[in-house]
Amino acid sequence: MGHAVVGVDIDESKVASLNRSECPIFEPGLVELLDENRSRLTFTTDFERAYRAAQVIFISVPTPEKADGSANLKYVLTAVGQIARSITSACVIAVKSTVPIGTGDRIQHQFDGLLDGTGLRAEVVSNPEFLSQGSAVEDMLHASRIVIGTESEHARDVMACVYEGFSSPVLFMNRRSAELVKYASNDFLALKIAYVNEIANLCDMLGADVDEVSRGMGADPRIGDRFLRAGIGYGGSCFPKDTKALHWLSNFHDREIKTVKAAIEVNAKQKLMLLKKAQRYYADFEGLTVAVLGLAFKPGTDDLREAPSIENVAVLLDAGATVRAWDPCAVENFKRHYPSEVTYCETIEDALKDADMCLIMTEWPEVVQLAPSVFAETMRHPIVLDGRNCYPLDGMAGSGIVYESIGRRAVNDLGGGV
Ligand SMILES: NC(=O)c1ccc[n+]([C@@H]2O[C@H](COP(=O)([O-])OP(=O)(O)OC[C@H]3O[C@@H](n4cnc5c(N)ncnc54)[C@H](O)[C@@H]3O)[C@@H](O)[C@H]2O)c1
Repeated sequence: MGHAVVGVDIDESKVASLNRSECPIFEPGLVELLDENRSRLTFTTDFERAYRAAQVIFISVPTPEKADGSANLKYVLTAVGQIARSITSACVIAVKSTVPIGTGDRIQHQFDGLLDGTGLRAEVVSNPEFLSQGSAVEDMLHASRIVIGTESEHARDVMACVYEGFSSPVLFMNRRSAELVKYASNDFLALKIAYVNEIANLCDMLGADVDEVSRGMGADPRIGDRFLRAGIGYGGSCFPKDTKALHWLSNFHDREIKTVKAAIEVNAKQKLMLLKKAQRYYADFEGLTVAVLGLAFKPGTDDLREAPSIENVAVLLDAGATVRAWDPCAVENFKRHYPSEVTYCETIEDALKDADMCLIMTEWPEVVQLAPSVFAETMRHPIVLDGRNCYPLDGMAGSGIVYESIGRRAVNDLGGGV
């Protein structure tokens, strides 16, 4: 959009790789975008220099969950201190990190105290981020909305200038409302997923097909057809922590949001649904070879935060199974959890080799495009448990496998000879 941007991080290796034009995360279109904008974009760990004359500073540091589910603000508060010590002119602070309602007020107060007597002013604005991993560039450039929370006319004008080149609608509101829009939106989506997963579990019991139910529901524009795909639950860096943070906050104010609490509980159970189904075929998992297709919490990313794969692999290893895993992007990150306990495979076929069971955790295109015959030809016992409903059921009959997915009828082509 023509602005000059300095990316600041305390992680030297990230900054070094960005300065070598290497992207430290996998995100479609990001490398190209970085390359196109090299002339106006630099990266540094020298925050003092970066903040000194900045007109706008975006805070996008982590806000991970604490043990009690509340958001940990230590990174945000550290960044505020670093900014206050560094700036030499007035600036607008845009908080992009997802923060509890009232955090803007708290850090405005912190800035006012730290800058007292300097003649400098930092105006804190809430500017929540709505991008999804896996489509971050597209989501950012064509956002459904840009939310800016401030009561200051000057800060509002500066932010309007920042976003001048974007065609997305800009919604101005007060700072606390903007902070709540982020949690309310994420938690609503998490709730929608949890709801369809509960409907899917009911479909399993009642002989209905959740894909058809979702299609029927999604045709209603009041409901919409997105986030109605049944599966083994949501993961990632946002939905799990943002549901817990709002739940904590609502409890703190003695106004528990019961729907969000329900979403958290449903999702925790749903993540282990495939292993529950697996018990129909194996009383215990000791000595089994299990293929795990997909480790990332969703396709298009190498992020493993709260990915169902982590919990499922932990259970399998604890039970004494051998795990053969395949993922096109997330293997290096998974090795941080399991450096040697898991066999990492270059190809899907290799992961399936001699397996007694296959768990599909991520709907990567390579998995979706796989011919069902590959399972039958490669596995010792072709029991395929699909946590992402990758295949139409029609294509499974006659493929010589046992195929179970979420909220859809099981296909047993082995005639009970499992
Ligand atoms: N990941 C998403 O899809 C997404 C979407 C919307 C909002 N958010 C929110 O954005 C925030 C960041 O999330 P993320 O996934 O990008 O986290 P991340 O952990 O991937 O990246 C945050 C970066 O901040 C750096 N950092 C920490 N302290 C710093 C400091 N004082 N100065 C400079 N850099 C510092 C870290 O080294 C890290 O590289 C969170 O609040 C999250 O909830 C994330």
